[in-house]
Amino acid sequence: MELGNMMEYFENKTILITGGAGFIAKIFVEKILRTQPNVKKLYLLLRASDCKSAQQRIQTEVIDKELFRLLREKWGKEFDCFIWERVEAVAGDIADENLLGIKNANLREEMLKNIDIIVNCAATTDFYDRYDVSLAINTMGVLNILSFAKKCINLKMLLHLSTAYVCGEREGIIAEKGCEFGETLSETLTKLDFKIENELAAHKLSQLQKIEASEATINTTMKDFGIERLCLNQSIVITIPGWIEGLRTMDTLIAGFGKGKVPCFLGRPTYIIDMIPADMVVNSMIVAMVYGESGTIYQIGSSMRNPLYVSNIHNYAFHYFTKNPLIDKDENPIKVSKVTVLHH
Ligand SMILES: NC(=O)c1ccc[n+]([C@@H]2O[C@H](COP(=O)([O-])OP(=O)(O)OC[C@H]3O[C@@H](n4cnc5c(N)ncnc54)[C@H](OP(=O)(O)O)[C@@H]3O)[C@@H](O)[C@H]2O)c1
Repeated sequence: MELGNMMEYFENKTILITGGAGFIAKIFVEKILRTQPNVKKLYLLLRASDCKSAQQRIQTEVIDKELFRLLREKWGKEFDCFIWERVEAVAGDIADENLLGIKNANLREEMLKNIDIIVNCAATTDFYDRYDVSLAINTMGVLNILSFAKKCINLKMLLHLSTAYVCGEREGIIAEKGCEFGETLSETLTKLDFKIENELAAHKLSQLQKIEASEATINTTMKDFGIERLCLNQSIVITIPGWIEGLRTMDTLIAGFGKGKVPCFLGRPTYIIDMIPADMVVNSMIVAMVYGESGTIYQIGSSMRNPLYVSNIHNYAFHYFTKNPLIDKDENPIKVSKVTVLHH
């Protein structure tokens, strides 16, 4: 498969990307603009009070990033023009069931008429978010995207991005199969009905509001309620070499190690952690869009071809920070030592 040929697919296409300022979304946007400059339009939908603030967010959180360096160098003075001829900011919210909360009627009509492809990258990726918020975005939000997609008269493709691997509390080898509607991974909760979950979350919230609980209490209680109801997921995409965006997921642990603040961690040294660089995720999304079959779920992982063991991460981090120590507030290099790995 030649990437060049594949990118022809995107020529003259209009694509809606939700969660437009998110980590995966911006890597996808950069890749499309760099490899298919003849893409017609990229609508980036993100939460903002209006399209002007949405555009401002795209400028600072997407376009101004180091990630766009190659494009900036290639287009020089024409860069801004190149970007804004193709990128359009859309203020919206996937949790809004009314056409994703896109208030601008003209823009909405234009989108419903012209969109060829929708890529849903919007999600709350906070593992400890409030249950009502998680449900509104990650569950009902997907339904809202689906109903918006059904109104797009020229739509050819909807790609939904999600976490690849969820095992709940189960142990051992788990077969890769799709979940049936209502199926749960928990042994105690045998059936999951998202409408009931929504009602439970709304009920809990209204109880808290009735007793005039503080915002802080509401936040903590609704988060704990989510933990009670959910099985946590365990899939991670990390940053590409040379470009890092904040500290997320595994990065936090690795940076903590570099700062000498991680005396031990949990995990069997022989266990494999499935990590995949984000540029590979985006390449896989593109292949799935061009060659994939409708309704197929693609799992992007590294465990089989290029396994990364818990012990590898430990060794790599140790070697890296020994060679490139972080500097403490007194400007001294921080010396790292091997940590204790706890396992049963
Ligand atoms: N990164 C990983 O390790 C990883 C691993 C496996 C799967 N995934 C999946 O990949 C997808 C994208 O992840 P990511 O890493 O790009 O996450 P991310 O950086 O947190 O981006 C998600 C984006 O969604 C936006 N968003 C949240 N709620 C929204 C709403 N109601 N309406 C519109 N936009 C909304 C957020 O916008 P704000 O900026 O306004 O908050 C954020 O920019 C998710 O489904 C995630 O589960 C990620």
